[in-house]
Amino acid sequence: MSNKRFENQVAVVTGAGRGIGEAIAKSLAAEGAKIAVVSRTEANSAKVAADINAATPGAAKPYAVDVADFDAVQKTGDQILADFGRCDILVNNAGVTRDTLAMRMSSDDWDTVLQTNLKGAFNFTRAVLRAMVKQRSGRIINIGSVSGLMGLAGQANYAASKAGLIGMTKSIAREIASRGITANVVAPGFIETDMTAVLNEEVRKGALAQIPVSRFGATADIAAAVSFLCSPDASYITGQVLAVDGGMSM
Ligand SMILES: NC(=O)c1ccc[n+]([C@@H]2O[C@H](COP(=O)([O-])OP(=O)(O)OC[C@H]3O[C@@H](n4cnc5c(N)ncnc54)[C@H](O)[C@@H]3O)[C@@H](O)[C@H]2O)c1
Repeated sequence: MSNKRFENQVAVVTGAGRGIGEAIAKSLAAEGAKIAVVSRTEANSAKVAADINAATPGAAKPYAVDVADFDAVQKTGDQILADFGRCDILVNNAGVTRDTLAMRMSSDDWDTVLQTNLKGAFNFTRAVLRAMVKQRSGRIINIGSVSGLMGLAGQANYAASKAGLIGMTKSIAREIASRGITANVVAPGFIETDMTAVLNEEVRKGALAQIPVSRFGATADIAAAVSFLCSPDASYITGQVLAVDGGMSM
């Protein structure tokens, strides 16, 4: 018998063109899932889908869409369901930062981050939830942040979006619990990716001082937590926030 946990399952991973989303997509694929690789940039989705298909021919398909665009996301969701026939796992990972102090934050900085991080997760959930309800099974994982738990200076917009995801996840979890679908948040701390590569040395040092395990995390740390919550072992866990942050938010 295969010990792959996601054989015959279909996973949609947003923001899968690089970073944490890429690691999540590849680790679900390594355990047998077929993957809809979604990102804003066609070339990035295509590259990650090609990597997955090199290991498992035919396992992945690339899609390019702006998660903030409700109508475009519904169309992409319909296309994914037509291409794969089902959706077992949705990982809402696409996210952006526009960091600056609140007194300098523009209306556009606020809207871009809320539309992408919070509304984007709603948009994709809306696009696949009916299919999950019909299947009477599913897993929704929303990628939050330590910032949504503690607040971080310079991130009023980002922290609001990530805290908002927690309330949204708990509400949806209650709506669908009786249909065999769980919804949880994985809240990363500081993880080595393009998003944190732009931080200057002073910010990195300050962050490190707040992390009890004294190091930044790896994308694989987040992927492992997501896979666990998507697995049959986690069927009794819903509406929860799993912080994967080296102890930063405890
Ligand atoms: N890196 C960290 O330390 C860290 C910490 C906490 C939370 N997170 C969260 O993890 C997730 C992934 O972060 P990352 O570090 O891999 O970031 P990243 O910038 O490397 O990747 C983000 C991905 O999201 C996609 N994306 C952004 N806006 C999009 C949009 N409007 N439509 C579609 N796709 C879009 C990008 O194309 C990219 O593939 C984000 O939600 C982020 O907020 C990251």
